[in-house]
Amino acid sequence: MAMMAVSSNLALKSSVSLGKTDFMGKTVLRQSAAPASAKSTVSLAVRAAGYEEELVKTAKTIASPGRGILAMDESNATCGLRLASIGLENTEANRQAYRQLLVTTRGLGEYISGAILFEETLYQSTTDGKKMVDALTEQNIVPGIKVDKGLVPLAGSNNESWCQGLDGLASRTAAYYKQGARFAKWRTVISIPNGPSDLAVTEAAWGLARYAAISQDNGLVPIVEPEILLDGEHGIDRTLEVAEKVWARTFYFLAENNVTFEGILLKPSMVTPGAGCKDKATPEEVAKYTLTLLKRRVPPAVPGIMFLSGGQSEVEATLNLNAMNQSPNPWHVSFSYARALQNTVLKTWKGQPENVVPAQIALLTRARANSLAQLGKYSAEGEAEEAKKGMFQANYSY
Ligand code: 13P
Repeated sequence: MAMMAVSSNLALKSSVSLGKTDFMGKTVLRQSAAPASAKSTVSLAVRAAGYEEELVKTAKTIASPGRGILAMDESNATCGLRLASIGLENTEANRQAYRQLLVTTRGLGEYISGAILFEETLYQSTTDGKKMVDALTEQNIVPGIKVDKGLVPLAGSNNESWCQGLDGLASRTAAYYKQGARFAKWRTVISIPNGPSDLAVTEAAWGLARYAAISQDNGLVPIVEPEILLDGEHGIDRTLEVAEKVWARTFYFLAENNVTFEGILLKPSMVTPGAGCKDKATPEEVAKYTLTLLKRRVPPAVPGIMFLSGGQSEVEATLNLNAMNQSPNPWHVSFSYARALQNTVLKTWKGQPENVVPAQIALLTRARANSLAQLGKYSAEGEAEEAKKGMFQANYSY
């Protein structure tokens, strides 16, 4: 044991070298992952030192009490579906109008700590010429960026998929950082009815770990999101079993890739029965199962667990989050919802300029409800019927 510690120390010392120059022009010390000598039994690899402190700070800012993430990172294709649902064409101007409505909502920063953007929005301005990114940071909302390139069929699997986007990711994340992004998102999916096969779980976990390491090297806090889809007729116990397997492998590969756990955020699915299961779960059951998963699989070093809504209704997603926050736990347990924050907003807006303010009020209402749920203080009393409608869609892509 003592021998191993000595040889790894030596390996570290001898591999420190002057490394890359960051975008501010500072030269940062970098410690190489390569062992100093072939004889070393243990090689301690260390992430690039330049961003370490900042990553931890960013993650803590996003995981701040009573706040969560607004996921507005729909790809152009998915944004087109959102717009089509209210009869609008999928043009850049319509996407801009919708995103402008979201980011210019006054008071949003009280409940929202981070907003995930699609690349188009990261480089886009409002119609008044203000960068969308500036509209967010003015409200103390950290801009984030979706960096994955979507899902494609996984050859050799049981009709499952894998997530593309690692090629060129280092230079893309460096450019996104310069543009103001401070965190990243990569969404891969696991299908329970299709297996999940061992191959699909390994591929998902490995891809997430490589993405997380690359993002941290370039100053972005990675959101780690292996979404376990709601599709299927399975019960809640089966979801827990699959989730345990997926998270065990994900953390194994995150560690193998020397990812700093204090500088990541998780975006899990809540542990629920499949959408087609005849037994429904109460918020208390969902909370019990989901917290069991977290306690068994997630180290307390991880600062924030930001759940996705996955097709639950707005109220259901908020009630479940509230139930999870009834007792203390080691993390900040919060939200990173897209559908469960945006549904009523879209339906209120309908693409009409005169509806922008009512739609922004609808966004504030949902954001505030989830803020209260993060603090364990939400009640569904007085919620509109519209907000109780489920949004599950089979084979949903993002
Ligand atoms: P939903 O909350 O709609 O499931 O969003 C998932 C997601 O990954 C958005 O970034």
